[in-house]
Amino acid sequence: MIKVDNLTMTFRHNRGMMTVLEDLHFHLEASEFVTILGRSGSGKSTLLDLIMGLIKPTAGTIVRRPGLTIGYVFQKPALLPWRTVLHNVSLPLEIAGRPRKECNERAQEALRQVGMDHANYGYPFQLSGGMAQRVAIARALVQNPDILLMDEPFAALDPMLRDNLNVNLLKLWHRTGKTILFVTHSINEAVFLSDRIVILEEGRMITERKIPIPRPRDFDTFGSELFVHTVGEIRKVMPIQPNLPREPL
Ligand SMILES: Nc1ncnc2c1ncn2[C@@H]1O[C@H](COP(=O)(O)OP(=O)(O)O)[C@@H](O)[C@H]1O
Ligand SMILES: [Mg+2]
Repeated sequence: MIKVDNLTMTFRHNRGMMTVLEDLHFHLEASEFVTILGRSGSGKSTLLDLIMGLIKPTAGTIVRRPGLTIGYVFQKPALLPWRTVLHNVSLPLEIAGRPRKECNERAQEALRQVGMDHANYGYPFQLSGGMAQRVAIARALVQNPDILLMDEPFAALDPMLRDNLNVNLLKLWHRTGKTILFVTHSINEAVFLSDRIVILEEGRMITERKIPIPRPRDFDTFGSELFVHTVGEIRKVMPIQPNLPREPL
């Protein structure tokens, strides 16, 4: 669906140039769940912005299947406070000029998909962090895109809630057959969700791993021997952080 070759991204800073992504090769196939795993500052969000087409690469190519549509879930939900939940979700359709009835019906359906249709007429300030992020996912789904890009959508949430939302995300993925490109700095989350993990370190893709854990995966998966073993294997290939402070905490 998407093929990336020789991708390089350099930003101009006041003190010179900074290469954020260097010579990446990457592909995404239909119905796959792929995760980009890397620490903060490794270039993950920049890569999603490039794939979405929000910014243009310095060098290299991004080939998207003709007619491909993409939905983007940002790290912060970015809901408009003066619009109801329903009208936040319907906004992309309104901008696309769809009739009001269709906007509302499709927004309701998208909210149903994420289990948030009870909150249709509420406002963003009434939502918890997890609820707001589910509404943001509904907004990304409302135009029924082929691919969902998700940038650390649950990173700000507590771990139990995060596991819960990840179980639900896999259910949604099975049900809808979407292709998902997910970004996280959590090894556990990446292993739980993915068919394949691509590890990004300082703008370079250092390795790629297939995840051998059978599907469907649910809460029990987190406790399974294979899960724990796989997390350990991924941990081994993650580079040791250079310049860690030596002082005791
Ligand atoms: N628009 C920009 N202009 C200049 N530098 C940027 C810009 N966007 C990102 N960067 C820099 O690129 C690096 C990678 O950022 P980012 O892609 O956000 O990483 P991640 O999402 O993995 O935390 C960071 O050092 C960041 O400061
Ligand atoms: Mg980021």
